[in-house]
Amino acid sequence: MPSHVRIVEVGPRDGLQNEKTLVSTADKIALIDRLSATGLQSIEATAFVSPKWVPQMADAAEVFAGITRKPGVHYPVLVPNEQGYERARSVGVEEVAVFTAASEAFNRKNINASIEESLERFAPVLARAQADGVKVRGYVSTVLGCPYQGDVPLTDVVRVAKALHGMGCYEVSLGDTIGVGTPAKARAMLQAVAAEVPMGALAIHFHDTYGQALANILACLEEGVAVVDAAVSGAGGCPYAKGASGNVSSEDVVYMLHGLGITTGIDLPALAETGRWLAGILGRESQSKVGKALAAT
Ligand code: HMG
Ligand code: MG
Repeated sequence: MPSHVRIVEVGPRDGLQNEKTLVSTADKIALIDRLSATGLQSIEATAFVSPKWVPQMADAAEVFAGITRKPGVHYPVLVPNEQGYERARSVGVEEVAVFTAASEAFNRKNINASIEESLERFAPVLARAQADGVKVRGYVSTVLGCPYQGDVPLTDVVRVAKALHGMGCYEVSLGDTIGVGTPAKARAMLQAVAAEVPMGALAIHFHDTYGQALANILACLEEGVAVVDAAVSGAGGCPYAKGASGNVSSEDVVYMLHGLGITTGIDLPALAETGRWLAGILGRESQSKVGKALAAT
């Protein structure tokens, strides 16, 4: 297992993109600034996607321009195409994430493109990013199942992950978009990808729909993965993935990692406090068991 894990906090993006009630720009900025104070090294701030597709992210530029960027913290943003890249760069973004899927059916619903078309769209984004000194992360969705297609062959997951890495993504995040995976399948999926893409360039991204996320993460840690995506308060879900629920909560992942003797550099009480603050903004209980337990002590 790794001795240190980097958490990529995706709450401000994945956590809020599917919220029924629109969260104000000021609250989004406050969320990111609070997260910056917890010791997190990577916070995915927003998404420069089409506001017609995801109205919750329409204020991406205002959010990014409004945050106080802490030195040493990375603030990646999603971009689906060159238009998104340009919007992001105009407010000083220094790291972007492109996203596609291992399943054709999901990709069509999510970004209105085939997998091949999406990779073609990313090529100019990666070329410009390289010229601008901008880091690019890549996502592969539906690595353990697709809401439209069902099972997704491992060979498709490996092929897409390899393609993103080969195009210049420094890190490829493997997403169980609808949280259907179980530990042995998660392990086998990671092993298959790691045979083609170095483990040091891989991250895992679990939604907790079936309550399997922590178990899946543990299985993947045992394989040596050292980057884990998570969302404070367990918020999240993709609007184009029917039945998808929240991401694994960052507080629960950090509690497990610290219990395993793995460092994260994160102040867990401060993170849990932020999770409860966010739950208050969203008008519901935190989805994090650790967040709730710490509040009760
Ligand atoms: P399209 O309709 O095929 O694109 O959408 P288009 O090029 O025809 O553009 C349509 C309109 O959108 C045009 O405006 C464009 O200007 C505009 P109009 O001329 O009609 O006024 N547009 C944009 N506006 C702002 N920013 C942009 C942009 N691009 C076009 N970047 C498109 C294709 C990719 C744009 C659309 O499908 C889209 O934005 N999809 C995003 C969906 C999304 O954000 N999903 C959630 C994130 S992925 C996820 O959650 C999974 C993940 O967490 C991992 C996991 O869990 O598996 C990452
Ligand atoms: Mg996600």
